[in-house]
Amino acid sequence: MATLIVYMTSHGCVEKAAWMIRDLLPDEVTLVNLENPEPPPMEQFDTVIIGGSIRIGSIQKRIRKFCEKNMDLLLTKRTGLFICCMFEGDTAIAQLHEAYPEALRKHATAFGLFGGELEFEKMNAFERMIIRQVANISVDVSKFNEKAVRKFAERFRDAGF
Ligand SMILES: Cc1cc2nc3c(=O)[nH]c(=O)nc-3n(C[C@H](O)[C@H](O)[C@H](O)COP(=O)(O)O)c2cc1C
Repeated sequence: MATLIVYMTSHGCVEKAAWMIRDLLPDEVTLVNLENPEPPPMEQFDTVIIGGSIRIGSIQKRIRKFCEKNMDLLLTKRTGLFICCMFEGDTAIAQLHEAYPEALRKHATAFGLFGGELEFEKMNAFERMIIRQVANISVDVSKFNEKAVRKFAERFRDAGF
């Protein structure tokens, strides 16, 4: 059994979640940041986990494109979908729904809402302005939810690895 985790991150939160999932699965796991060139052919993986973060309401474009381009193949795999974001509750769920195509959501084995982090040192001036003015936050915040990551990984561990 082999697992592919495809992700995009702005400041490292999604990457942290992806590494955690990798460490929690007893299997061979390949991590691919979509900043880099094409991921390896998906035929060799039984499970594909996709993760991105929400910025101004949307997930990264490359995550969307990856889902669209590979939809047929993804629907033949076990899949997991997750996001990192600061909103919680219904807004976070709505953002997750908006992030991934319906067909893929219907097919997915697990969903993850892993919370998010705001670290001002990692932001550029524009990002700082948005966070200060729109969210009215001016200090670092971490809502990263390790428990949710573990629960998500368990769905794949318990389902046959
Ligand atoms: C400019 C900016 C815009 C953001 N917009 C949203 C948003 O619309 N909704 C939300 O829930 N979180 C939003 N966030 C919070 C991010 O989703 C959070 O920082 C997340 O941890 C980013 O993960 P990453 O570092 O892996 O990209 C925003 C953060 C920044 C810096």
